[in-house]
Amino acid sequence: MRAIPGTDPPTFVCEDKAEAARAIADEIETIVRKDATPVIGLATGSTPIGAYQELVRRHNEDGLSFERTTVFNLDEFIGLPPKHPLAFRTWIRANLCAQLDLWPALIRFPDVNAPDLAAAGRAYEEEIRTAGGVDLQLLGIGRNGHIGFNEPGAALDSRTREVELHPWTREDAAPQFDGLQNVPQRAMTMGVATILDAKRLRVLAFGARKAEIVRATLEAERNAAVPSTWLRGHPDVRLYVDREAAALIET
Ligand code: PGA
Repeated sequence: MRAIPGTDPPTFVCEDKAEAARAIADEIETIVRKDATPVIGLATGSTPIGAYQELVRRHNEDGLSFERTTVFNLDEFIGLPPKHPLAFRTWIRANLCAQLDLWPALIRFPDVNAPDLAAAGRAYEEEIRTAGGVDLQLLGIGRNGHIGFNEPGAALDSRTREVELHPWTREDAAPQFDGLQNVPQRAMTMGVATILDAKRLRVLAFGARKAEIVRATLEAERNAAVPSTWLRGHPDVRLYVDREAAALIET
């Protein structure tokens, strides 16, 4: 892995996704072993899955235990039945939680089924605070710069809330949902301020389709039009990319 000097967020080009996955798993392992009440923030999808597979391997082969760990998930679609295969709860359970010794009560999501979503957002913020804050938050970056489902326009001071999904986000999800018409219109997400409160932010972006947004994350004016630019200036943020995603920032 190679650091690109002078970048904000500090950016590391990895040989491949597996190297990035190991770096993330190393940090999570250190927190989970040392901290009495570790709190990890999780993201869903193809980007973080390598890190999750590495954590499952360490659990199975090295006895790494998560029984004191609380996990807060970044976001969730609104309107899907709880057991829907594409609900993030289902995905996180299948790909991570069912294979680790996490306590089910310590696997937290914003309550998208609550009658009052604004109150549910406030309750999620309170849960994170009560848990002592997030020690390490894992993040992907959408092609439009979204972090969680903080789509373009998301304010720096935004908190966990209901949001409308951006057309590109719905387009990117359409193949899995067998068509755009089946993709939810709305979601709940941790806000930008919620994310920036985490002690460490670890951001992943892989593949040529992320090259343009990686460049914008580092170089665009820091504002709501590209929410990933809000990551700049966080005291402990790192961006891990593969060579394809780094194609437009390599000098
Ligand atoms: P992905 O994008 O779908 O490529 O994992 C990450 C994200 O949208 O946050």
